[in-house]
Amino acid sequence: MEDFGIHEGISEVILTTISPDGVPNAAPIGLHRKGGRLFARIYNSKTLDNIMKKPVAAANIVDDPVLFVQSALSDIEPERFEFTDGFPVLKDAMGWILFDCKYKKGKDVSVVELFPIKGKIITRKLLPVNRGFNAVIESLIHATRYVVLKEQKYLKCIKYYNTIVNKCGGAREKEAMRLLYELIGSK
Ligand SMILES: Cc1cc2nc3c(=O)[nH]c(=O)nc-3n(C[C@H](O)[C@H](O)[C@H](O)COP(=O)(O)O)c2cc1C
Repeated sequence: MEDFGIHEGISEVILTTISPDGVPNAAPIGLHRKGGRLFARIYNSKTLDNIMKKPVAAANIVDDPVLFVQSALSDIEPERFEFTDGFPVLKDAMGWILFDCKYKKGKDVSVVELFPIKGKIITRKLLPVNRGFNAVIESLIHATRYVVLKEQKYLKCIKYYNTIVNKCGGAREKEAMRLLYELIGSK
């Protein structure tokens, strides 16, 4: 896990899964690493449905803010996936890890333990901290809550983080925020 930058705490990745009829899906999910074990806490979603039917998932390590927004708030295009041994991963991932999953179904949230099978490192980029990128991710967390709960407080938080994106982000972060606002139907 260390080689993939997955340390203690929560790492935000894009989890890819596949439906029984072969349709790939992607969604941002936090991987919790604690005491050498790896878990995800997954709310009822396509990702959870897929894992319950085929308990395999790939953690894609991604640095593109637009891909985070697309996979959180819409379906990404089929051509963004490639298949490795019949399982979908993202073409734009910097690396991925394929896991066997064991889940404990809960009413709202299920705990999924992840057991690595294999992984691939495609690129080792140096990624200095960019507050604009981080602010897109924070906004997106609020956006995924806003689309379900429609509470104004989430829009307020998104607006706050958007000021940081405008100050510290580059073109890709600004495009991600434009898309985020479009997909939540605001602005
Ligand atoms: C950075 C980030 C981390 C997220 N982590 C989780 C998570 O750990 N568990 C979860 O259930 N949803 C998480 N979400 C929300 C899901 O990505 C979101 O609900 C998504 O629409 C689910 O898509 P799906 O129905 O295609 O699986 C996260 C969203 C973001 C932006």
